[in-house]
Amino acid sequence: MTTYAAVILAAGKGVRMKSRTPKVLHRICGREMLSLVVGAAREAGLEHTVVVVPRDSKAIRDALGDRVSYAEQSEPLGSGHALLQAQAAVGDAYGVVVLSGDVPLIRPDTLKEMLRRHRARRACVTLLTSTLTAPDGLGRVVRSPSGEVAAIVEESDADEATLGIREVNGGTYCFDAAWLWENLPGLTPSRKGEIYLTDLIALAVQQGMTVEPVQSKYAYETLGVNNRIQLAEAEGVLRQRIRERWMLSGVTMPDPSSVYIDDTAELGEDTLVLPNTYIRGSTRIGRDCEIGPGSIIADSAIGDGCKVVASVIEGSTLEDGVDIGPFSHLRPGCYLEKGVHVGNYVEIKNSRLKSGTKSGHFSYIGDAELGANVNIGAGTITCNYDGEKKNRTVIGDDAFIGSDTMLVAPVTVGERAATGAGAVVTRDVPPDTLAVGVPARILPKRSGGQT
Ligand code: UD1
Ligand code: CA
Repeated sequence: MTTYAAVILAAGKGVRMKSRTPKVLHRICGREMLSLVVGAAREAGLEHTVVVVPRDSKAIRDALGDRVSYAEQSEPLGSGHALLQAQAAVGDAYGVVVLSGDVPLIRPDTLKEMLRRHRARRACVTLLTSTLTAPDGLGRVVRSPSGEVAAIVEESDADEATLGIREVNGGTYCFDAAWLWENLPGLTPSRKGEIYLTDLIALAVQQGMTVEPVQSKYAYETLGVNNRIQLAEAEGVLRQRIRERWMLSGVTMPDPSSVYIDDTAELGEDTLVLPNTYIRGSTRIGRDCEIGPGSIIADSAIGDGCKVVASVIEGSTLEDGVDIGPFSHLRPGCYLEKGVHVGNYVEIKNSRLKSGTKSGHFSYIGDAELGANVNIGAGTITCNYDGEKKNRTVIGDDAFIGSDTMLVAPVTVGERAATGAGAVVTRDVPPDTLAVGVPARILPKRSGGQT
């Protein structure tokens, strides 16, 4: 297998996307199209991948890093010209699998099947085709009366009869490398002035070489994304595949059509995902959780047995048994230990809440460290911003913060200390004391820990 290299063509202009972002970096279900293609090649066992990139390809190189090698096509002179630029980087591979960076749903199994057939038939070219009801815009596969592939004709060069053909070129090929490098440089430009890789098919046929078509079992895997309508179509297909993957691995979704899970996220067994929920980025959700309805979770780690109702969680970590919502927002940098309870209308940012701590009702907790079993009364605010910089609030274990307390940071509330309702705390509260008033005065605490 190592003697086969993958070449992914990604240097086209992508004008039909009408975008400043290179086409192949547009994302579907959280992954760049090009990364999906790179992943498919790798999963099919192709270890050496060359990506043909345009000039000014920093964004593409940043996205893929050194997982792949690069070849540059300095002018977009067509897919054949693009492939030729990869020759040096491919080296002495015996065969070349060519993929398109804008055909993102190609399946690794299909690539393996193409390689198997290519070898078994000792083919010169093996190409993926599919039969579509709406073949518009794609190259048509022209067959001889006996059913052999004769040529691929691009739509712009096709006559009426050819336009009626519904079998299309999927943009994925295996080539015998020696034949490819010998014949590719001789192709002549099309009427549009581009060198079409697809002209190699008719050339191989003329030379009496074996051209092996592999018909895709899944029309979607040949879906090429040239505009944003096709981008949405590809996203729809992948989204459904992702939901099915998680349902088959033990996740319950009573209404899968309203659940959006990025390809990069993971969910545990017996987790229930309720409608109108988005699970994005690098999110990992444990077992036995209940997520939604109406939650958005991005780039976060959620433990087992957590509940997140109609809330937004970004860039945060929840240990087991945490419950949140409805209508709360965890902004990046929160760490909620075991059994923390966050109720309604609470915003938390860049804060740690130790185990058993509770904030039930409309509060803002920012840049804070809350000990274990702290009770945050309704309406409590950490006043973390003094107009210039952000300041920290530290609250010790078992402290009791009365309703509507303003904690003017930097400030520390000691262990088991308490604040009275409406206190404006402007200086540190020692352990086991009570702070009341505006600004708050410190008093000895009565027994029982309550104000
Ligand atoms: C191409 C095929 C068509 C096939 C379709 C499948 C050709 C001539 N036609 O058409 O038969 O049905 O894909 O989706 O190949 N590229 C470069 N440099 C260039 C031009 C293109 O790297 O100068 C890359 C593009 O980034 C893309 C691929 O080659 O990944 C195909 O190019 P594109 O312009 O999208 O071709 P299609 O019109 O879609
Ligand atoms: Ca295309």
